[in-house]
Amino acid sequence: MERSTFLTIAHRGASAYAPENTFAAFELALQMGVRHIELDVRVTADGQAVVIHDETLDRTTSGAGPVAQRSLAELKEFDAGSWFDSRFASEQVPAFTEVLERYAKLAHLHTEIKSGQVGFCKHIIDEIHQHGAEQRVTITAFELAHLVEVRRLAPNLSTGWLVRNITEELIATAKRMGIDQLCPQASTVSPEIVRLLHNEGFTVRAWGVPSEAVMRAVVRSGADGMTVNFPDKLIHYLAMGEKGSTPI
Ligand code: G3P
Ligand code: CA
Repeated sequence: MERSTFLTIAHRGASAYAPENTFAAFELALQMGVRHIELDVRVTADGQAVVIHDETLDRTTSGAGPVAQRSLAELKEFDAGSWFDSRFASEQVPAFTEVLERYAKLAHLHTEIKSGQVGFCKHIIDEIHQHGAEQRVTITAFELAHLVEVRRLAPNLSTGWLVRNITEELIATAKRMGIDQLCPQASTVSPEIVRLLHNEGFTVRAWGVPSEAVMRAVVRSGADGMTVNFPDKLIHYLAMGEKGSTPI
């Protein structure tokens, strides 16, 4: 893997430094030079797609209870930044359409479908089509059913399957379903796994990077990319190689 083409994907934006899944975190990622952003989408009570990780509002907003029981207008009333730092008190839960509008021309959007019935996929795909962003989005999910539905409705959209670890059965399933990218948990990624997946025709991008040591191990494995909360550190490491390592 050419380091210059390694996919540095800001996980929920530059979420080590700004509240996850907000414009503040996405803007900061862009300022760091990142051109790949990961975000999570869930469905609201009125069928809209919003960008938030948890099933409930409690951890990352001033609201409480399930996201799925609130309308988009209600969600917009909540403060989605103060939990992280009072400087971010004006942040709101973004609608997916707003993220497409603001960022689809600036970054590739690794869009994880977190919730909703399989029918929710159509709504997301329609929004991607409305923004002409088909080449700028990769749909990811842990639930294979979502990806199968995306493949059925939009065969040209890139898809990545988030998995804990790689098994032969999983590879066979992913090939059968036409999945483009396999996304194993970072701690399970090794040069052997990456070689195997490349030979099977998948790109490999890791998730769940808890430390710079794991970040470096993923790069050294030959993987194609990773989501990371501290993309500035990954950019620095890719530019400097081992000389750029922070001692641990
Ligand atoms: O990169 C994928 C990763 O975001 C999956 O886990 O819990 O952070 O959505 P989670
Ligand atoms: Ca995610």
